[in-house]
Amino acid sequence: MELFSVKERTVFITGASRGIGKALALGFKNAGAFVIGTGRSDKSISWMNNVGIRGVVLDVCDKDQVQIVLKDSAQETGRLDCLINNAGLTAQTPMSLIKDDEVDELISTNLKGLIHTSQVFYELQKNKGGSIINIASIFAHSVVPATGTYCASKGAVLQITRSMAVEWARKKIRVNAICPGFFEAGMASDRMKRPSTETRLKSAIPMGRLGNSDELTGAAIFLASSASSYLTGQSIIIDGGVLSQIKV
Ligand SMILES: NC(=O)c1ccc[n+]([C@@H]2O[C@H](COP(=O)([O-])OP(=O)(O)OC[C@H]3O[C@@H](n4cnc5c(N)ncnc54)[C@H](OP(=O)(O)O)[C@@H]3O)[C@@H](O)[C@H]2O)c1
Repeated sequence: MELFSVKERTVFITGASRGIGKALALGFKNAGAFVIGTGRSDKSISWMNNVGIRGVVLDVCDKDQVQIVLKDSAQETGRLDCLINNAGLTAQTPMSLIKDDEVDELISTNLKGLIHTSQVFYELQKNKGGSIINIASIFAHSVVPATGTYCASKGAVLQITRSMAVEWARKKIRVNAICPGFFEAGMASDRMKRPSTETRLKSAIPMGRLGNSDELTGAAIFLASSASSYLTGQSIIIDGGVLSQIKV
């Protein structure tokens, strides 16, 4: 058994069309896994088939579609070893102003969507074994102004991770999370690339730079592989040291 190998394992990654999910999809593909990546439209997944990733359209908020897509994928590949719940949305609204529909959209995508996919994965893989990796955030641990509902959704992702881990451990399903810090690609990239924001962020990050999405792949491969066979209910913070430091 190769400890850190994901060769010939099937990995299903939601929100793989761009940003962190795209980096994870390419990272697993390069490590020898068979990758199924999702996006919400034919256009967003169109690059995948050219690089040997099976692209499928999926809205994680649509429970029936999640059932069909995951079951079809399992049937087609004969196995599903790992589910990476990466699809997510953010919002920049202060708590005093946030509207119900914005809260509903965030919770539906970041939390309910993750529950939909995980439940189907559990039904397919219980007793056979599998690893679920939930992409949370450092905002599960701490907050910045105007991100309250996003932070709440990511805090909930960590509690859901622990709950699934505890409930599903005896069915051979491990469930862990990764909490990224500030990464160059993805949902906040435009904001983070503003010169004033970038300078401020870099000074707050002990390593002095934003993360590169490729720097999440190693931890994800560890959590998907036999190297983490006794690890469940945990989260790994990958943030260049941000959360370890109190800025005074
Ligand atoms: N970037 C960061 O610095 C950072 C830091 C901490 C945590 N994270 C977390 O990492 C994950 C990925 O973030 P990102 O920055 O890479 O985001 P991104 O670039 O905005 O990409 C979001 C992905 O999610 C998909 N998606 C959105 N809503 C969906 C839905 N309802 N159903 C299915 N797919 C949906 C998008 O598909 P389409 O392309 O088809 O729209 C896209 O593939 C998120 O969970 C985020 O919270 C990111």
